[in-house]
Amino acid sequence: MTDLVNFEIMDSIGVITVNNPPVNALSVGVPQGIIDSVQAGTSDPSVKAMVLMGGGRSFIAGADINEFLTPPPAGSASLDDMISSFETSTKPIIAAIHGNALGGGLETALACHYRCGTADSLYGLPEVLIGILPGGQGTQRLPRVCGVEKALPLMVSGEFVPAPKALTLGIIDHVVENNLVEGAVAFAKQISAENRPLRKIREESVAPPAADFFDNFEKSIGKRARGYLAPYKIIECAKASVELPFDKGVEREKELFQDCLKSDQAKGLMNLFFAERACTKIPDVPRETPTKKIETASVLGAGTMGGGIAMNFINAGIPVTLLEANQEALDKGLEIIRKNYANTVKKGRLTQSDMDQRLGLITPTLSYEDIADTDIVVEAVFEEMEIKKEVFRKLDKVMKDDAILATNTSTLDVDEIASVTGRPEAVIGTHFFSPANVMKLLEIVRGAKTSKEVIATTMKLGKTIKKVPVLVGVCDGFVGNRMLARYSKQANLMILEGALPQEVDQALFDFGLAMGPFAMGDLAGLDVGWRIRKRRAEENGAFQDEAGLDDQICEMGRFGQKTSAGWYRYDPGSRVPIPDPKIEELIKKYCEERQIQRRPIEKEEIVERCMYALVNEGAKILEEGIALRASDIDVIYANGYGFPRYRAGPMLYADMVGLDKVYKTICSYHERFGEVWEPARLLKKLAEEGKSFSDI
Ligand code: 3HC
Ligand code: NAI
Repeated sequence: MTDLVNFEIMDSIGVITVNNPPVNALSVGVPQGIIDSVQAGTSDPSVKAMVLMGGGRSFIAGADINEFLTPPPAGSASLDDMISSFETSTKPIIAAIHGNALGGGLETALACHYRCGTADSLYGLPEVLIGILPGGQGTQRLPRVCGVEKALPLMVSGEFVPAPKALTLGIIDHVVENNLVEGAVAFAKQISAENRPLRKIREESVAPPAADFFDNFEKSIGKRARGYLAPYKIIECAKASVELPFDKGVEREKELFQDCLKSDQAKGLMNLFFAERACTKIPDVPRETPTKKIETASVLGAGTMGGGIAMNFINAGIPVTLLEANQEALDKGLEIIRKNYANTVKKGRLTQSDMDQRLGLITPTLSYEDIADTDIVVEAVFEEMEIKKEVFRKLDKVMKDDAILATNTSTLDVDEIASVTGRPEAVIGTHFFSPANVMKLLEIVRGAKTSKEVIATTMKLGKTIKKVPVLVGVCDGFVGNRMLARYSKQANLMILEGALPQEVDQALFDFGLAMGPFAMGDLAGLDVGWRIRKRRAEENGAFQDEAGLDDQICEMGRFGQKTSAGWYRYDPGSRVPIPDPKIEELIKKYCEERQIQRRPIEKEEIVERCMYALVNEGAKILEEGIALRASDIDVIYANGYGFPRYRAGPMLYADMVGLDKVYKTICSYHERFGEVWEPARLLKKLAEEGKSFSDI
């Protein structure tokens, strides 16, 4: 029919195949091609029924998300036009699904008269994940298929449902065991031979749920969906499916779809969708770069990070040898891993036999000989250059020639660590985030001499262990923590200028962050930074004549949640921060002693200073080539720092505010507060040229 859609007749069945790689999105031309094929099938007397399927790796994965960000010229056939063509067809149309039927793809299938799919196919309406809602009648059809109690959670979570469950839910009518085309054609022939009616889901009704269903559902998502627009609009659509006739429900869906589509949230989430895919592409390390096989791993250090890192490998089925400095630390580390899994089993998210199998993949050891043959070693020992160097000298001696030597350092120079080995090309940073078995972000630190093969392998491994790997360069704090230092500095300064920790945290929480810097500090443990500051002061030969406010808090034995007191106080066993008058007193006294005039600080100023501090440092990082793209920085913040996904990240946020405004404000801060606000050259240039970070 067109290059995008093919029509052929097989054994009296018209087979319509969408060929729009990679995922058969419903880009301009696809709906028209399908409409033309349906017409061809309807008007050909030899055709008894039609099968609609996807070519290549999948059925249709949804609307083309690019077309939401840059709408194509008006006039092309829409998803609704295509759906109408199914409904006016006099012959049965059967969707035949392999791979994924997602979003507009599932909506297409639900408009067909029958549906079949392979045993490994997946079904879902994941529009919510890009800030919109199913806008192709899906919110009205899915409740008619499986009931609104089951449909609503699927639409609000965007969950992918496997074929067997889809069959139980009534989303598909039949599972094809072997060849999809053959199975689907046979199914279509059977439907035609049995003269089955043309099932039209639009003509069915939705049974009303329990009276408190919608209220309870809304309450249940309160925490997860805080700040998001689309989940609540989807609830309204689901209500419409129960309360309104089909066509009226579809009208309501269209209005609510537009509300979502024109929101900044949709823009943020769609940009993040593409950013999370772009960050795996490295200009000078093309897709064809050879990679090493990673079948075994070893981890050095079974502390806070080492244990979590080991869990990532065994969760992906990669056996791990875990090496410690002494038996006691090894036993302690293993026990924590065991407890972590036991908790997951208790919560019903893992079976006991899976837990046993995973633990069986760990080999504990105290000997370097036992790790020599592993394909990658990740070092997670104490954060001290001399210790790291000693460890890497040993690794250089014992590890097999083609092993990758990775370090989880968070602050040290990867090149300096690599320099003690005779193979700096094999050395790379793998900066996991705590808790390493939970946090998605993995900064992969490229050293000056790291080989492309090692980079490509480590990026691929990141995906295998279900992380979001982002390539960064060597500098103090890499990308995420270097920017965070600027943000925390502003938060600390505002405490001295007049704000209280709870005011700063609340402003940033309301902006959408998972938590503010002071609650975060209490969670991570204030003593970690305090010890580093003390050590650095000693190393530099400096003596601390005056402790900062955060040091004073640690000197009081307040290390955060672990001591039930830090910037906040905590009731025993509770993680809920409670503002503490003792801290307010301490802050006021600290300011009085230094004759600092305190002033009220508005929420807007708090957010602006914290965000612009991130943005300015992010721009410097881009200028220096430490991050490849502004969108990589956003991926880092969305996956490692609790930045609200609906804002994508600090760099897109700045683009949306307008770089001209951001730059002018930073210049005014520069005048008012001094050097710390020196504007990034890149920011100045882009602002003056009227451009944004995404134009780079
Ligand atoms: N539109 C445009 N491009 C898409 C796309 C879409 N819906 N889905 C995937 N792609 C692109 C990706 O950007 C990527 O491009 P790249 O190779 O240039 O980076 C390529 O397809 C492959 O994608 P992945 O790397 O994600 O491949 P995976 O195999 O890991 O995953 C997938 C495949 C599960 C289909 C995943 O891509 C996905 O979840 N896609 C989005 C599905 C979705 O959200 N559908 C709903 C769209 S909105 C809609 O339908 C509105 C309707 O209700 C009106
Ligand atoms: P930790 O102190 O909890 O664990 C370090 C472990 O290494 C200890 O169990 C210790 O016995 C062991 N160890 C020390 N020397 C060793 C040696 N020579 N051989 C084998 N084992 C040895 O430290 P943590 O927090 O796990 O940090 C480890 C590394 O990860 C550090 O480089 C740190 O900067 C980095 N990191 C830490 C994060 C955190 O939030 N804790 C986050 C990201 C990175």
